[in-house]
Amino acid sequence: MRKKLVAGNWKMHGNLQENDALLSALVTGISVLGNNASYAVCVPYPYFPSVQSKLQGTNIEWGAQNVSQHEKGAFTGEVSASMLNDFNCTYAIVGHSERRMLYGESNQVVAEKYVAAQKAGLVPILCVGETLEQRDSDTTEQVIDEQLKAVLTLAGVNSLANAVIAYEPVWAIGTGKTATPQQAQDIHRFIRQGIAAQSAEIAAELTILYGGSVKANNAAELFAMPDIDGGLIGGASLVADDFIAICKAVRS
Ligand code: PGA
Repeated sequence: MRKKLVAGNWKMHGNLQENDALLSALVTGISVLGNNASYAVCVPYPYFPSVQSKLQGTNIEWGAQNVSQHEKGAFTGEVSASMLNDFNCTYAIVGHSERRMLYGESNQVVAEKYVAAQKAGLVPILCVGETLEQRDSDTTEQVIDEQLKAVLTLAGVNSLANAVIAYEPVWAIGTGKTATPQQAQDIHRFIRQGIAAQSAEIAAELTILYGGSVKANNAAELFAMPDIDGGLIGGASLVADDFIAICKAVRS
């Protein structure tokens, strides 16, 4: 049985005081869910020490929203995978559409980040997804194919045994416009079948998350689709009750 996961992506939100209140509520609300699924929060770098001390020993893991493709060196402002490891970080999101669009990360750079994360023992959450323009011009599958191909070429299909993929249609992120469960399922199946062409075993075990305006009131129907194994949650991960409700939905 493949792993189910709900991961929050806080983006550039929060402060020590707000995080403390949010995490306390999450620890209480999520501890009762046990280990049927995995739960995580992906937080801004400076908060790793406090998040670690707050979540260590709970059933909530933590991750980064980005990672350098380099191991170390003269890369001002960058953070390496081994630095994240110092704080027992489990996940690193790579290739989020905001990184691709606002910071010019190419498929090749994203693939290098994926490899760097895995090399340090982190589980990359590899984001893929099309813009509205690409969907309207019927190139969704081609775009996703290219995003995946860069990673598969550099790291090989077996690397996906230690990775998570997140399908996040760019037009659904932060817009309140969620993909319908069927729209999401179609792309999730497309991704899984593409991987299965290289390894049926890896494809069957691969956790594929949906992300893009997942809310407490639409999570259950999305997570009920056969190829959707949980979610990557932006806005709703900042509100304890909403995030807990979404974590509960992944079990049903
Ligand atoms: P959203 O963000 O849930 O606010 O749409 C999802 C994401 O960007 O990961």
